[in-house]
Amino acid sequence: MSEVTTELGGGILTVTISRPDKKNALTNEMYGVLADALEQAEASADIRVVVFQAEGEIFSAGNDLVEFAAQSRNEGPAVRQVERFLRNLAVASKPLIAAVQGKAVGVGTTMLLHCDLIILADDAQLITPFVNLALVPEASSSLLLPLRIGHVRAFEMFALGDPVTAQDALAWGLANRVVRRDQLHGEARRYAQRLAERPAGAVALTKGLMRNSDQLLGQMERESRIFSAQLRSEEAKEAFSAFVEKRKPNFN
Ligand code: COA
Repeated sequence: MSEVTTELGGGILTVTISRPDKKNALTNEMYGVLADALEQAEASADIRVVVFQAEGEIFSAGNDLVEFAAQSRNEGPAVRQVERFLRNLAVASKPLIAAVQGKAVGVGTTMLLHCDLIILADDAQLITPFVNLALVPEASSSLLLPLRIGHVRAFEMFALGDPVTAQDALAWGLANRVVRRDQLHGEARRYAQRLAERPAGAVALTKGLMRNSDQLLGQMERESRIFSAQLRSEEAKEAFSAFVEKRKPNFN
């Protein structure tokens, strides 16, 4: 059973992250399926909108830290599918919707910055603990997050990694709606159905006018160079070892 599944119906491609025993932490293989789904959406006129959702208690614990640890020892995969997924997010022309419950950590939050409509459950928390892991922001979030919420809030999110509640996320312009958890997927679906009924050409052109994909890709490249170097740093190795050994890291 795949840990990311897709389902197409009524012009809506629903992409479900499903690795609940590991809190939906994303592996290279899962990024590959996510990247494929976005390519399928671009290629098919039958797909008018993509909905990202997740099974289980939380939306995603972010990148699989066991895989980060392997990459820090140069034992990672030959192709990092995450980069294809992030590039596909940056160039997506179809509208993307996200439905988020519980914690959305790391890429679980930064991928939301590429979504066009975001519905949060009232227990949602957005967390970007890159610096706590001795890493730097990715997914063009170093550009998009300060643009959306201002430098000081974005810096606090990146550098301290404190959770942002659903209500704060709504107030800061990071989400469209906060709903009860049992209403989350239904609400996202209702938005998707409304979008799927709109003229697809005008929707795509509107989205295109609102985003500068070249700028996003350029920032991703800058981030990626620094991120890759930092992934192999001694301080990052300490952060990943601490996670695996279930202890606090010691950066001194
Ligand atoms: N990568 C790999 N495995 C992860 C993971 C991750 N990012 N997040 C959680 N898991 C695993 C845990 O190792 C644990 O596995 P085990 O049952 O085999 O020991 C399982 O998922 C449950 O996690 P646990 O920490 O016990 O759940 P929790 O409800 O107490 O806490 C989180 C949930 C998400 C707050 C916590 O797991 C966490 O902080 N994860 C790391 C998040 C992170 O830093 N991501 C990277 C961002 S760049």
